Amino acid sequence: MSPLLLLLLGLLSLVLCVLRGRSRRDGEPPLIKGWIPFIGKALEFGRDAHKFLEEHKKKFGDIFTVQIAGKYMTFIMDPLVYPSIIKHGRQLDFNEFSNTVAPFTFGYPPVISRKFPGLREEIKRSFHLLQGDSLTPLTESMMGNLMLVFRQDHLEERPGDEGGWRSGSMYEFCYTVMFEATFLTMYGRPLSAIRHSRMGVLREDFIKFDSMFPLLIARIPLWLLGRTKAIREKLINYFLPHRMSCWSNMSQFIRTRSELFNQYDSLTDSHKAAHHFAILWASVANTVPATFWAMYYLASHPEALQVVRQEIHDVLGIDGVEFTSDRDVTLSKEQLDKLLYLESAINESLRLSSASMNIRVAQENFDLRLDSEHSVAVRKGDIIALYPQSMHLDPDIYEEPQTFKFDRYMQDGRERTDFYKDNQKLKHYLMPFGSGSSMCPGRFFAINEIKQFLCLLLLYFDVQVEDGQTRATLDSNRAGLGVLQPATDVRFRYRLRTV
Ligand code: HEM
Repeated sequence: MSPLLLLLLGLLSLVLCVLRGRSRRDGEPPLIKGWIPFIGKALEFGRDAHKFLEEHKKKFGDIFTVQIAGKYMTFIMDPLVYPSIIKHGRQLDFNEFSNTVAPFTFGYPPVISRKFPGLREEIKRSFHLLQGDSLTPLTESMMGNLMLVFRQDHLEERPGDEGGWRSGSMYEFCYTVMFEATFLTMYGRPLSAIRHSRMGVLREDFIKFDSMFPLLIARIPLWLLGRTKAIREKLINYFLPHRMSCWSNMSQFIRTRSELFNQYDSLTDSHKAAHHFAILWASVANTVPATFWAMYYLASHPEALQVVRQEIHDVLGIDGVEFTSDRDVTLSKEQLDKLLYLESAINESLRLSSASMNIRVAQENFDLRLDSEHSVAVRKGDIIALYPQSMHLDPDIYEEPQTFKFDRYMQDGRERTDFYKDNQKLKHYLMPFGSGSSMCPGRFFAINEIKQFLCLLLLYFDVQVEDGQTRATLDSNRAGLGVLQPATDVRFRYRLRTV
């Protein structure tokens, strides 16, 4: 063999060796690399993450490491082990992930940097303005804005409608109402008007951007994504300081963040605007599909809808006979908290539709203790992932897991919190909002606003899914990233209630 050929073969095997990546060491979980170097199992995982993980769980047990697009991800499939992962703060970090992926996606510079001392901590601190005492004004403002959109767009009589029935697309209906009401609640309204004139255009651009979200999260370069860069720029520009200064009734949360950003000279106006745009995404991208699924399941389960509607009437002290559509609805925090069947129905829809992956990055090589007897070796830089959808659909925990049971989270007229796996009580049994220190700070507001939307809908309207359609299915396009959208929209009929 010629020396040149030998050299080439040598080089080739070196390249293959590097591309094939690592091999399993003692104490580490089973390693699944797939046959495509670097890419590993990314394609199979992307096609149907839930199925992929279930199949690998059967083969390799409750913990295994998968190579996905150059990263090594260790999946923990046993929910009884979740608490040990969630409480590992120091060695398993969330910030590292959010500090690279979110800035790339929304177009602001990494927050954890010498250029912005203390910014990440201050941003985290601002999240308390979505909770506790601040939740009340936020929720009240949302109620007013939902009422405004319902009243102006849907509550007027329309004489042409057959038998009073109107027909619509359910996802679009939820999107239009929730997007605008959330926007008004967070960012306020123009000084001289009660609604923003270009809300429809903003929403359409947002939807276009959002459809690219899974690719951006996968860090596909913007220049490969067609018009995404231009659309994102347009969306960001909507929040430039000179524009926002012309809005009134802004939430304390957004006002505080604007003041915070102004303290950093190194943040440009466009960066500040990009941060505001990121919050718009966080506040609607999951809430809209979550609202849709709750509405869809209630509309397609009339027995559930009847119980929930009765609960709303009881809690509001509204007599169905006297209530008419010219009356506005207000709901106090106490009333919202009392809507337990409604909350159970929302949680049940979240169980069936959410697929967020919880991710932590290992900060050092260490032994991850799983319980008193077991631990696994983890390497620095590896990703530890929880995939709660597998738990949500586990028949050992949830009987008939694919069935919508609106009162699954109720027991003897109270919220049910005891769910078991292998006869052991689970600390975490429903995790649409993530976990631990990175848990969604908007979760209480999200549940409140979905409740408010459904209260208005059920008080004012009769709602039915139109006949002749197949059951709505989940679009797995954004598996791992939050609440899944419906694969296709659902036609529905609604009419003002006359009772
Ligand atoms: C049904 C609706 C919602 C769902 C399912 C949801 C889910 C999530 C999840 C899974 C995370 C990541 C947590 C983790 O990785 O551990 C998150 C983060 C976040 N969510 Fe939500 N969310 C919802 C609504 C909202 C709303 C209404 C707001 C704000 C008004 C909001 C604001 C945020 C923010 C700011 C973060 C980032 C937290 C951080 O950087 O530490 N979310 N959300």
